[in-house]
Amino acid sequence: MTATPNRKALQALRLFAPIAGNYVRWAAVLSLGQDPRWRAAMVAGLKLSPQARVLDVAAGTGAITRLLEARGARVIAFDQSIEMLGVARRHGATAVRGTAEHLPFPDASFDGLTFGYLLRYVDPAPTMRELVRVLRPGGEIGMVEFGRPSGIWGPWWWVYTRLVLPIAGATIGSGWRKVGSFLGPSIDAFYREFPDDRLAQVWESAGLVDVRVARRSLGGGLIMWARKA
Ligand SMILES: C[S@@+](CC[C@H](N)C(=O)[O-])C[C@H]1O[C@@H](n2cnc3c(N)ncnc32)[C@H](O)[C@@H]1O
Repeated sequence: MTATPNRKALQALRLFAPIAGNYVRWAAVLSLGQDPRWRAAMVAGLKLSPQARVLDVAAGTGAITRLLEARGARVIAFDQSIEMLGVARRHGATAVRGTAEHLPFPDASFDGLTFGYLLRYVDPAPTMRELVRVLRPGGEIGMVEFGRPSGIWGPWWWVYTRLVLPIAGATIGSGWRKVGSFLGPSIDAFYREFPDDRLAQVWESAGLVDVRVARRSLGGGLIMWARKA
């Protein structure tokens, strides 16, 4: 990485460095087994030809990368965290380090692009434009993010994220204490600024069409797909 990381990027670097080694296992447990299902549904919903060239941004330890590879795609796992990418590499991923805001790839160089749990750590509008820049016209994009359940599930979600997650994080120890307290407020802050229709607008303004949205697990998971015009 050449540019000096901004405040959000630094926050993410500090958050993920200590949990890289056991990230996938505890992320699955703390999402009550749901987040592996969201990633699988997102990858299954992408319209990709065999051998498609795909960039997995914010790849972390490569959970989405491996699902794409299992479909026959040629994938680059891209992330700013050396610790998270180290795990992805140990699983055999082709990994490149850098920030999503400045991708070191030419315009239109990928048939597909995925990202999981990225937008809360960046400025969404310029970052979406940058992601779309490296996608070829007609290329497919897919995202996984936490959602915020509404209606009768809203208060339960609040209790889970504000009381259960912090206690669970503290019990696991190490970096999970910070993650457990961070997640709920981070998700709430994101959706205050980017409610559903606003997020779809950001995608369309970045040059995407055919934006599709799916909610999973009572609204706790959000999956979006689109195509570059
Ligand atoms: C919650 S992890 C998700 C990892 C993976 N997508 C998954 O589904 O398991 C979020 C990842 O985003 C990465 N990240 C955060 N901000 C980033 C940025 N500005 N550029 C690149 N990666 C970033 C973090 O390093 C971390 O690995």
